[in-house]
Amino acid sequence: MAPTDHHRQRVKTHARSHFEKWALSYDRSRLNEVVFFPSVRRCQEEILRWKAQRPKGAFRALDVGCGTGTLLSVLEADPDAELLVGLDYAEGMARRAHEKFTAADEPERMMAVRGDSERLPFVDAAFDVVTCCNSFHHYPHQERAVAEFFRVLRPGGMLVLIDGFRDNVIGWVIFDVCVAMVEKHVHHASWSRTRSLLKEAGFADITQKKMNVLAPLLVSRAIKR
Ligand SMILES: C[S@@+](CC[C@H](N)C(=O)[O-])C[C@H]1O[C@@H](n2cnc3c(N)ncnc32)[C@H](O)[C@@H]1O
Repeated sequence: MAPTDHHRQRVKTHARSHFEKWALSYDRSRLNEVVFFPSVRRCQEEILRWKAQRPKGAFRALDVGCGTGTLLSVLEADPDAELLVGLDYAEGMARRAHEKFTAADEPERMMAVRGDSERLPFVDAAFDVVTCCNSFHHYPHQERAVAEFFRVLRPGGMLVLIDGFRDNVIGWVIFDVCVAMVEKHVHHASWSRTRSLLKEAGFADITQKKMNVLAPLLVSRAIKR
């Protein structure tokens, strides 16, 4: 039976309250150091690779489920980064990101907003890069979120989606058993399900790789043609 809108809203409310509590200590947490931060670095590397394959020029990036804004704070050093926008469903996370962005060297290039991955408050084709790290498993309507990633990308733009890899025994135990027990109502999409979601949304040139940090992660990269 398909989940109802009421159920989906409960899932999102649960995720939000979980991260509201975590917002102030998130950057100092061990999990951030050993899992989240390495994946943020990986995202940055994917963006550098994408940039190397296109004519030189400015780009606009959106980080969905941006947390405290770590990725965008790293990207800020890139002079080609014209606009860096972070969106998060938890007010506390978006506020923390906003505080970091206002302390940046060029705060006018950066923006943090509170919002939902399933309803991005941006016009079509507003960004060259969309990233989503360690957040996708909280979305009860993943098809809708991927359709939104596609909609807000410009043709030639790239999506980098990083989340738990649950297709081997270690990943299954970590994500489907342990993380699901702690975070509740989460769903780590498998390698093939993620690929189908990206294809169905219209993405091309999909590449997927496993990345090993303390836990295995699935790095999916796709282009809007
Ligand atoms: C584990 S944190 C990851 C933060 C950051 N991307 C990183 O890798 O450090 C997951 C984030 O996803 C956000 N999130 C959960 N559900 C969301 C939704 N429906 N829309 C946007 N953000 C959401 C949470 O509030 C939280 O900040």
